[in-house]
Amino acid sequence: MELRDWAIRILSADTLEEKLFSPDQLTDNEPGASFIFSEPVRPAGMQFQRHTSRHKLPSFHEHCHPDKRAICLHRFAGHELLAVEIMAHALLAFPQAPPRFRKGVASTLKEEQEHVRLYIERLQAMGVRFGDMPLYRHFWAYVPHLTCPIRYLSVMSLTFEMANLDFAPQYGESFAKAGDAESAALMQRIFEDEISHVSFGFNWLKRLKAPEENAWDLWEKSLPRLVTPVRARGFIFQEEPRRRAGLSDEWIQKLKNS
Ligand SMILES: [Fe+2]
Ligand SMILES: [Fe+2]
Repeated sequence: MELRDWAIRILSADTLEEKLFSPDQLTDNEPGASFIFSEPVRPAGMQFQRHTSRHKLPSFHEHCHPDKRAICLHRFAGHELLAVEIMAHALLAFPQAPPRFRKGVASTLKEEQEHVRLYIERLQAMGVRFGDMPLYRHFWAYVPHLTCPIRYLSVMSLTFEMANLDFAPQYGESFAKAGDAESAALMQRIFEDEISHVSFGFNWLKRLKAPEENAWDLWEKSLPRLVTPVRARGFIFQEEPRRRAGLSDEWIQKLKNS
């Protein structure tokens, strides 16, 4: 199946099964013309809802209650589904991007689909169905800004996925402390994959930038107005996973101090 057809299928899917459809054989012979979905089609009951303060994520000290952990996991599953859709958007929006970049986005997309599946399984074991709680637009709000591969990498890989290098281990540790080894193991798995997603972003930013351009400066100026560098970190800054992702010391220190 062609990447373009796959991406269209994902963004127009009205069942979870179709959102998670992942063909073994993918080709990219006809990337076609750029094509933008203003919003993804969603399965019944999974449409974007208005986010209110009533829907705040439970705080860490509440993780001892399984229902509060399930709220966290449901929210994270929602983020994964958005990642699937935003990566499908990237495949449709940037047909002219280097084929190896597109191939990389496609394989990351497959991992995001797997993350959705893993969260669904964990939620099921906790008695919750994915879609039973509200889902939000979150990262999709920035899609109009993702007009070129550099902006896509800056916002997705180097900001939102980057922040997960802090959030995933912190939630994992908290779930473990609450005695929920399964959810902790899931966060660890996501964390490991996220390191390679950030690495993909950094490598391609370096490849696509002009030789004289500083990578950090380019990243900063490629973010939307309302997204500041602080969004690329969580509450507890982790240097080690960023080093594993191949980020430069300069980048790590600048982010740490921003
Ligand atoms: Fe993910
Ligand atoms: Fe990711």
